[in-house]
Amino acid sequence: MGLMSSTFLRAFIVRLFLTIVSNVNAQTKVFNVMSYGAVADGKTDNTKSFLSAWNDACEWRGEGTVLVPSGTYQLGAINFKGVCNGKMVFNVDGTIKAPPYSPGDDRWIVFNHVNDLIVTGNGVFDGQGATAWPHNSCDQSLNCKPLPPSLYFQNVTNALVKNITSINSKQFHFIINGSTNVSMSSLNIRAPSDSRNTDGIHVGNSNNIHISQSTIGTGDDCISLGPGSKSVVITDVNCGPGHGISVGSLGRYAGEEDVIGIYVKNCNLTGTTNGLRIKTWASPQSLLAYNLTYKNIHMDNVQNPIFIDQKYCPNSLCQSQGSSQVQIELVKFINIMGTSSSLVAVDLKCSKSKPCKGIELNNIHLDYNGEGPSTATCSNVNQISYQNEVVPSCT
Ligand SMILES: *[C@@H]1O[C@H](CO)[C@@H](O)[C@H](O)[C@H]1NC(C)=O
Ligand SMILES: *[C@@H]1O[C@H](CO)[C@@H](O)[C@H](O)[C@H]1NC(C)=O
Ligand SMILES: *[C@@H]1O[C@H](CO)[C@@H](O)[C@H](O)[C@H]1NC(C)=O
Ligand SMILES: *[C@@H]1O[C@H](CO)[C@@H](O)[C@H](O)[C@H]1NC(C)=O
Ligand SMILES: *[C@@H]1O[C@H](CO)[C@@H](O)[C@H](O)[C@H]1NC(C)=O
Ligand SMILES: *[C@@H]1O[C@H](CO)[C@@H](O)[C@H](O)[C@H]1NC(C)=O
Repeated sequence: MGLMSSTFLRAFIVRLFLTIVSNVNAQTKVFNVMSYGAVADGKTDNTKSFLSAWNDACEWRGEGTVLVPSGTYQLGAINFKGVCNGKMVFNVDGTIKAPPYSPGDDRWIVFNHVNDLIVTGNGVFDGQGATAWPHNSCDQSLNCKPLPPSLYFQNVTNALVKNITSINSKQFHFIINGSTNVSMSSLNIRAPSDSRNTDGIHVGNSNNIHISQSTIGTGDDCISLGPGSKSVVITDVNCGPGHGISVGSLGRYAGEEDVIGIYVKNCNLTGTTNGLRIKTWASPQSLLAYNLTYKNIHMDNVQNPIFIDQKYCPNSLCQSQGSSQVQIELVKFINIMGTSSSLVAVDLKCSKSKPCKGIELNNIHLDYNGEGPSTATCSNVNQISYQNEVVPSCT
């Protein structure tokens, strides 16, 4: 009896202790920007109050939530930095407005060195792009200075970005760089079709990235996967207007890392200039784009539905036109349906010195919108296989 009760007592005490410890760890605290002096009048600069709220939440030993209630907040360039002591939540219910264009600016909102991050709410990030687009000089110069992206994730791990709206970025809407395990879902990304370089999501030097259930319509790529993109899964994305879902551009700079393991599934492209595109520069930089799968894609009125372009040269500004040293290998297009607004529905322009290998076209059914059937053209494709495709094969 004595033995039994003491065992019970010990178990009880251990339980109680564990409960207290886990509660301490799990304790969440809200850091409302209004308590830090934020003013939701759309004019007052709130950079200091947002940063103080972030810093306190970051120091909190538990889950820290930075809350941005409804209202419109003017916010300058800001660096939300880790390492934080616990999980971080950035909960935006309001509209956050970027400053108007200013020549020196190169970033707006940055999340840097953060592990365990959630960015959510039902809020809006408004990049005020219309003030910057006239200053975009990338059609005159290849070395144009990039304008600030709206949200930049650098060295972020285990993050979830959910239910956020981003409108009218100055240049890219989201950049995910040097990051691991980032999921982005239920995003709404919009900019006018003639706003230059307003890519929806750009991924580079990152792995295990998931993009799903989002609607993206901009003046450039809906999603672009740059050098060093590895294990990226894109599902249930509606893209258009814009330049489609792209791998690249690759091979422009020395030291670029390979692109490996891209899976694009169940997406719709509507009225875009390109559908599924792989773009590489005709340059001496050598790298690999390997194991890309595109499956169950619906195209509606897309100019270049399936497009490999190894002589990528935006605005025809390139000097030397050598041959691309980017090896494209193991690329599968499976169940690609819908309409092409140009005659050439499948256009594979591979590199003369590094011909494409292991291209599979399986069940491609793309009708030309105009008169007559659509066509396919291919150059420098070494191994290609077909099944049930309705577009004529490349010979
Ligand atoms: C990335 O962030 C982590 C914290 O999440 C930090 O410990 C590490 O030093 C950072 N790495 C680089 C290369 O900046
Ligand atoms: C997502 O955002 C929309 C507004 O953009 C809002 O109506 C909806 O309640 C949000 N959903 C969640 C789960 O927060
Ligand atoms: C990836 O991040 C999510 C949080 O967004 C986390 O729940 C999950 O455990 C992480 N996966 C790995 C393999 O660390
Ligand atoms: C992107 O991330 C890589 C790897 O972490 C880093 O070397 C590079 O400087 C980053 N690029 C930019 C523009 O921040
Ligand atoms: C794509 O379009 C099809 C047919 O119009 C629709 O059933 C499907 O839900 C759409 N996909 C997404 C991700 O919205
Ligand atoms: C290609 O990537 C898929 C995941 O998208 C993976 O399951 C498969 O094993 C990879 N194949 C090769 C040959 O690396």
